[in-house]
Amino acid sequence: MATPFARILGTGSYLPEKVLTNHDLAARVDTSDAWIRERTGIAQRHVAAEGETTGDLAFEAATRALEAAGVRASDLDLIVLGTTTPDLIFPSTACLLQHRLGANGCAAFDVNAACSGFIYGLGIANQFIRAGSVRTALVVGAETLTRMLDWDDRSTCVLFGDGAGAVVLRADTEPGVLSTHMHADGGYKELLYNPVGVSAGFRDEKNHGVRVLMAGNEVFKVAVKTLDAVVEETLQANRLEKSAIDWLIPHQANLRIISATAKRLGLPMERVVVTVDRHGNTSAASVPLALDEGIRSGKVQRGELLLLEAFGGGFTWGSALLRY
Ligand code: ACO
Repeated sequence: MATPFARILGTGSYLPEKVLTNHDLAARVDTSDAWIRERTGIAQRHVAAEGETTGDLAFEAATRALEAAGVRASDLDLIVLGTTTPDLIFPSTACLLQHRLGANGCAAFDVNAACSGFIYGLGIANQFIRAGSVRTALVVGAETLTRMLDWDDRSTCVLFGDGAGAVVLRADTEPGVLSTHMHADGGYKELLYNPVGVSAGFRDEKNHGVRVLMAGNEVFKVAVKTLDAVVEETLQANRLEKSAIDWLIPHQANLRIISATAKRLGLPMERVVVTVDRHGNTSAASVPLALDEGIRSGKVQRGELLLLEAFGGGFTWGSALLRY
C-alpha cells in the first residue's frame, strides 16, 4: 500500500467563559486599550476560572473534535498534547486527557515547544501516520498561560490568554498533511523564558516564582525573520508558488507579525484567520483555535490548501502545509 497521508477528520476548540478586556487591565497596570490594540491587535482575552485547568480546556476541545470527526475516543491510537502549562508535573496532561476521554491504552504524551507546541504535535502525529504505525490520532494544543503571568508586569500580562484547540487525524490515501517543518534554537533562551522549574528550583535568584520574561522587541524581530524563512522552506519543499496558498492560519501572538507573514505570501488579510484580537496569545492553543474557527465559520472549505505556522519560546518554530 502507498504511504498513507494524515487527513483532518474533525476539529474542536474551547475558550474559558471569563473575558478580560484591555480596559480591565488598564485599571490594574499602567497601560491603555489604545497601546495594546496598536502594538498587538489584542482587544480581549479569555481567562480560565479558578480551579479550571489546561486539562479541562483540552477535554472540551477534544470532545468537540471527536464529535466533529465522528470518531470514538476508543478508536484513538495516539494523543499528542502541546502545552507549557500542564496540570501537573506528571502524569502528563495527555495521560489525564486520555483517561477522561476513555481512550485508555493508546500512546499519550505532552510536547513542550511553547507556542509551537501544536505544530510540533502535528508534525509528530503526521510522522506516525505516514509510517503506518498509527491510524487515528488526536493532536491538542491547550494552555492556561495566564497562570504563569506576573500581573504587575505590563510588558507581558497584556499579551496572553487561555484556551484549547484539537484536531482528529486519520490515515487516508488522499492528502492530507503534505509536509511539516520543525526547528529550534536554544541559543535564544534569554529572550523569552520562565526562570523557574523542578530542577532549577521554584524561586529564581530574585526570589520570584513563575513568570514570563521576554525581551519583546527582540523576539518580534527574530519571529518575523524566522517565519519568513519557514514559509519559504515550506513552499520550496512542496515546489509551490505562494499564490497556491488559500489560507494562512498563523500563531496569534501579534497582529503586526501576522500581517508581515501575510504580506510576504502576497495574501490579503481576508485570507488569514485572525483570532488574536479576541483570544490574545494562547501559546500552543492558538493555531488549532484559529483552524477550528476558520472551519466552523465556513470560511475554510474542504479541498483548500492551508499553511499553518508558529513561533515561540525556545526558540521553537515550525509550519505545516495541508490540503483540508
Ligand atoms: N502598555 C503601555 N506601554 C507599554 C506596555 C504596555 N502594556 N508594555 C510596554 N510598554 C512600553 C515600554 O515600556 C516601552 O516604553 P519606553 O519606550 O518608554 O521604554 C514602549 O512601550 C515600547 O516597548 P517595546 O517593547 O519596544 O514595544 P513593541 O512595539 O516591541 O511591542 C510587544 C511590545 C507587543 C511585546 C512586541 O514586541 C511583541 O509582540 N513581541 C513578540 C512577542 C512574541 O511573539 N512572543 C513569542 C511567542 S510567546 C511564547 O512563546 C510564550
